[in-house]
Amino acid sequence: MQRHLIVQIFLPSFLKICTGADWCYQSQHTCATPCNGPEKWYHANKDCEGRAQSPINIVHRKTLPDERLTPFQFRKYQDSFRGLIKNNGHSVQVNVPHQPYVIGGDLETPYKVVQFHLHWGKNGGPGSEHTIDGEQYPMELHIVHMNEEYSKLEDALKDPIGVAVLGFFYEESLSANRKYDPVVRALQTIMTTGANTTLVSVSLEQLIPPQQNLTNYYRYKGSLTTPGCTESVIWTVFEKPIPLSRDQLRVFSDLQFKDGKPMVGTFRPVQPLNGRVVYRSGGVVVVASTAILMASFTMAMGLSQPN
Ligand SMILES: *[C@@H]1O[C@H](CO)[C@@H](O)[C@H](O)[C@H]1NC(C)=O
Ligand SMILES: *[C@@H]1O[C@H](CO)[C@@H](O)[C@H](O)[C@H]1NC(C)=O
Ligand SMILES: [Zn+2]
Repeated sequence: MQRHLIVQIFLPSFLKICTGADWCYQSQHTCATPCNGPEKWYHANKDCEGRAQSPINIVHRKTLPDERLTPFQFRKYQDSFRGLIKNNGHSVQVNVPHQPYVIGGDLETPYKVVQFHLHWGKNGGPGSEHTIDGEQYPMELHIVHMNEEYSKLEDALKDPIGVAVLGFFYEESLSANRKYDPVVRALQTIMTTGANTTLVSVSLEQLIPPQQNLTNYYRYKGSLTTPGCTESVIWTVFEKPIPLSRDQLRVFSDLQFKDGKPMVGTFRPVQPLNGRVVYRSGGVVVVASTAILMASFTMAMGLSQPN
């Protein structure tokens, strides 16, 4: 009884302190806004200053080919679902019913989808979390999966390999990617923090590149890229980006943080490797370079033809 009473008295004031010192991105940090930027995330959670943090800069030359990194099999990714899409004050997140899952890619068990969310810059400027040889892409998609034995993400996060995140970059394309219309349309109704709507008839497959273009990827052990920064993530970062037009990329900057300011720069700076090794899928290197050779050959032929 007494314990219950204490909780009732203390909980509201505790919550107030927490929101007063909420974590934020670098882009939000101003003298007038007393929030904890990435350098102070360890105030929110000690794990944020751990030795296996994400994101990282991937230096291709230093990655090691690993033939165990076979292509993934994306199961039920083609199924349409209804999912809650929400502006959560830090990003836009879509909760996915737990049916789709991945196998392969040197994962020991199937990992099922929990949610996906994005990280972006300002009006299509640099905004990805991971960088490749120092290059930052305009946006990055994180499809969060957990080991199939768990039913709650918080349980999976207690397991050092409980979570697998698939990361996809975006690149600016000249034409709009029509497969993103439902997401872009939904964004326009969830501009303010806390707003949500239902995303209907979208499949994960339509949001990522075709499977045959997903054989090249990087792999390392890291963490969540937001507090609590839990180091329980097997990271996969795919080389092949998703095309979106500049206008489509810009719509993300119309979302708003809690204070009404534009939700831009929603990425954590890259973290030290601290001796970690980044592996790359290796079994298809020859095929990939043949494709590139063929492409440049075709292009050279095209260029040398009089028009
Ligand atoms: C979605 O928004 C409604 C208000 O429009 C709110 O009552 C509800 O709690 C929100 N749901 C979630 C999961 O945030
Ligand atoms: C994507 O896959 C198709 C079919 O295998 C192939 O023709 C194309 O070259 C691939 N593109 C890239 C960039 O890998
Ligand atoms: Zn993320």
